Amino acid sequence: MIEPLYITTPIYYVNDRPHLGHAYTTIVTDVISRFARMKKQECFFLTGTDEHGDKIVRAAKKENLSPREYVEKISSLFKNLWPELNIENSYFVRTTDQSHVEVVENILRKIYDSGDIYFAEYEGQYCFGCERFYSERELVDGKCPDHGTAPEVIKESNYFFKMSKYQQWLLDHIEKNPDFIRPERYKNEVLSFLREPLEDLCISRPKSRLKWGITLPFDEDYVTYVWFDALLNYVSALEYPDGETYKKFWPHVQHIVAKDILKPHGIYWPTMLKSAGIPLYKHLNVHGFWNVDHSKMSKSIGNVVEPLQMKNIYGTDAFRFFLIRDMVFGLDSDYSEEAMVQRINSDLANDLGNLFSRVIAMVHKYFKAVVPNVDLSLEKEMELGLKEDAFNAVSCFESSMENFSFHKAMIAVWEFINRMNKYVDVTAPWILAKQKSTRKQLEAVIFNLLEGLRIVSGLIYPVMPDTAKTMQKHLGLDPETPFYTLDLLRSWNTIVPETKLPKGISLFPRIDFEKIQKERADIAASVLAEEKLPDITLEDLSRVDLRAATVIKAEIIPRAKKLLKLEVDIGEVRTIVAGIANDYKPEDLVGKQVIVIANLKPAKLMGILSNGMLLAAVEDGKSSVATLDREVKPGTSLR
Ligand code: MSP
Repeated sequence: MIEPLYITTPIYYVNDRPHLGHAYTTIVTDVISRFARMKKQECFFLTGTDEHGDKIVRAAKKENLSPREYVEKISSLFKNLWPELNIENSYFVRTTDQSHVEVVENILRKIYDSGDIYFAEYEGQYCFGCERFYSERELVDGKCPDHGTAPEVIKESNYFFKMSKYQQWLLDHIEKNPDFIRPERYKNEVLSFLREPLEDLCISRPKSRLKWGITLPFDEDYVTYVWFDALLNYVSALEYPDGETYKKFWPHVQHIVAKDILKPHGIYWPTMLKSAGIPLYKHLNVHGFWNVDHSKMSKSIGNVVEPLQMKNIYGTDAFRFFLIRDMVFGLDSDYSEEAMVQRINSDLANDLGNLFSRVIAMVHKYFKAVVPNVDLSLEKEMELGLKEDAFNAVSCFESSMENFSFHKAMIAVWEFINRMNKYVDVTAPWILAKQKSTRKQLEAVIFNLLEGLRIVSGLIYPVMPDTAKTMQKHLGLDPETPFYTLDLLRSWNTIVPETKLPKGISLFPRIDFEKIQKERADIAASVLAEEKLPDITLEDLSRVDLRAATVIKAEIIPRAKKLLKLEVDIGEVRTIVAGIANDYKPEDLVGKQVIVIANLKPAKLMGILSNGMLLAAVEDGKSSVATLDREVKPGTSLR
């Protein structure tokens, strides 16, 4: 019997709405838990929300809500999002749950009684954003490395956890268990932290400064430091210490986190577990960060990706597929909507979608929608190595999934899909269909294709469960049998002859990204047109950097009908993308002196970074570029 699996995501702070980063971690964890189902492995999948601490109090204040009202609101945004993304977690833990609070109190008392917690006065540099003290060594130019702000010096008496006591023990444990933290780069990062002196961990905050937290069971005047509280969710959710789920799943725990929270998970958590006498986790699996259009995702840049919005436009499965296919687990990756659309159109609409509808259409056309009964010897003759390639795809998929190389698992599936597309070309069923004498061969070819598609449907199940189920239905497979188990995917000839197949469908319609962009631009324009612009002051106006610019070069952008790429001289050379291709040829513009807004935040259009904006009047959809009456030095300001 295969051992069970306990897999967790971080519990997310409720100081902000869920975004792409949260969605990725939770989707990847869902993929792992569905892969467990493929192996018939019992799996407990935990996610939840982290609801105490300064950050939350400040966020609640901003919305004029009490912390309790505020956490209810945001926690439910997370909880309700996951089913929308087809995430099937076993439980959703909240650090404000009474059962969690009790476990935190219980473990704090245990550690306190063992002598690993002491009281002391401490003066240090505290970052309110991170809710922790920083040592001089950790600061970058005297500032918090995450927030870029100077920490404040705080002096207060607090409780400390003797983390340093376990420093050597943890070093030894990691060296003895090289895959305790993986991939290796993150193990090395933790080892290098551990090779420097490790300070004890301040685990309390005086109530005079922060009330929103779990009161220390041994001192009424203090609440628990949010990380000490949050990490314990991983045991509280299983009903530590006596719950059956705890006994069954804790010995098989693996955590999934991103690199931002490596230190609490790689250092605080194992030492806390050791001190509390709880066995350590099996593996800490660390992934990289999604950047958006090559920048860090942040509210101030305005590039935060909303998972629900992406799901509504592109569908859950396509969104999940892109995230899994385009990130190498452990490394950073870049997200752009355009790259996602390209991936959907090429891999999903073209390779998989076309193959599926072609094969199902042939069953309808040549066999009146009924799966042909195949002559086994001919099936072999017509198979041309397809079966072996299918099994190779299954084993490559399996080993890649085991190694957290999810993108490689998908590559293996797509190599097989492309192999099937070639098989259709080589066997040319439409030619076999022309003569009665090749009818048996035609039956064998179609049967093999249906078998291949059945295997594909199982292999995509963890990443695209809805599409997998649609394929199952359209292949006439029994809806009650889990079609995705690895043992079924390692067998051939399980498609049932004589089954009548439902009407064909298009799994992934092609997406016209230009159309989507145009619709968005139209909506934005109509909103603008309806808004009466407010009066502005001279000071407002002085924030707009208007300059005379000479066009040096102009070219069309293939695939973007309305856009021109311009190089302009504004005292320095800038690239600007302008939506004037319908009204100007590139050669009309070169040498012209135009007006640009030089300090508009750069934005990417069709993959090109546009650094400024050209002014033009637009009348009935036709643009007229603003020019200067008399030529001036490029870069001259307009006022
Ligand atoms: N509450 C803590 C975790 C406590 S766990 C005991 C926390 N919360 S968080 O809301 O900030 O979530 C951090 C996690 O969100 C990251 O570790 C990662 O899983 C996910 N991501 C947030 N931004 C991300 C990206 N830009 N890219 C990928 N994942 C990221 O830290």
